[in-house]
Amino acid sequence: MQIITEPGQMQSIAEKLRLNRQCIGVVMTMGALHEGHLSLVKLAQQTAGTIILTIFVNPTQFGVNEDLHQYPRPFENDVALAKAAGVDFLFAPEAEGIYPEHYQTTVACSEVTKVFEGEKRPDHFKGVATIVTKLFNITKPHIAVFGEKDAQQLAVIRRVVQDLNMDIKVIEAPIVREQSGLAVSSRNIYLSIEERDAATILYKAIGHAKKRVAEPEYNLAAIAEEIEEMINSTPGCRSDYAGFVDEATYEPVETAETGKEYRLLLAMYSGTVRLIDNAKIRA
Ligand code: PAJ
Repeated sequence: MQIITEPGQMQSIAEKLRLNRQCIGVVMTMGALHEGHLSLVKLAQQTAGTIILTIFVNPTQFGVNEDLHQYPRPFENDVALAKAAGVDFLFAPEAEGIYPEHYQTTVACSEVTKVFEGEKRPDHFKGVATIVTKLFNITKPHIAVFGEKDAQQLAVIRRVVQDLNMDIKVIEAPIVREQSGLAVSSRNIYLSIEERDAATILYKAIGHAKKRVAEPEYNLAAIAEEIEEMINSTPGCRSDYAGFVDEATYEPVETAETGKEYRLLLAMYSGTVRLIDNAKIRA
């Protein structure tokens, strides 16, 4: 596995791979690699012969009071995990290489970023859309794998790829969960044992929603309210949002049409740690 830190060098390697008719698959991460990230690599390997894994804690997607400086950066361990997973190139640039002085261009996607996670974290998705576009231009992939774990992020990336005519196939990887149901996340290391235990309410809430939509009479807005109540009545937990969107447009939905697919989006705090989760719900 080759470790590359210079965007220019990564670009010329990617160009050579393309000239040699290699199929390039990219998996983008902020590091602190875990089972979720590694499942994305595995999925990419099913389609692409050459895998580029990127590790970059992207400052532009963090809000002023968020955890940019605290974010875990266990680089040596990440290198070992990437190598063991069969990654061919690890691209780990410095912030100065990605956002040099006088940098002033961003990628902004509108409607999909206005609700839920986008509403709670202003400019977050602008930072994501920008870095993902930049990393696409640097790694020149044919395919890119992103996790369903960040469903709204995936919807934003799909829009950017389609709207900007990028010739890249976006592949969705299912959510990897711990046995307790808690979605695996780099931020889970912030949780104390009690907070981790309490956080399992998020997965229980998804189970509740699935059970409720199997009943003959229900209303999505009422289910979202029930979920917020479930979370808020769990000691140490506070709901940040719970709601359903149309899977195709990401418009919030209150009343379901039978047979249609919706996405339940959830965010909560366990102690001071913010966690997100989601699930596809068929009405
Ligand atoms: P990060 O949180 O490191 O996640 C990198 C990728 O791994 C994302 O596509 C995310 O959805 C996926 N992922 C995380 N946890 C997962 C889990 N439990 N199961 C399946 N997939 C999981 O998302 C980002 O980084 C950044 O926003 C990034 C796209 C790299 C841009 O900076």
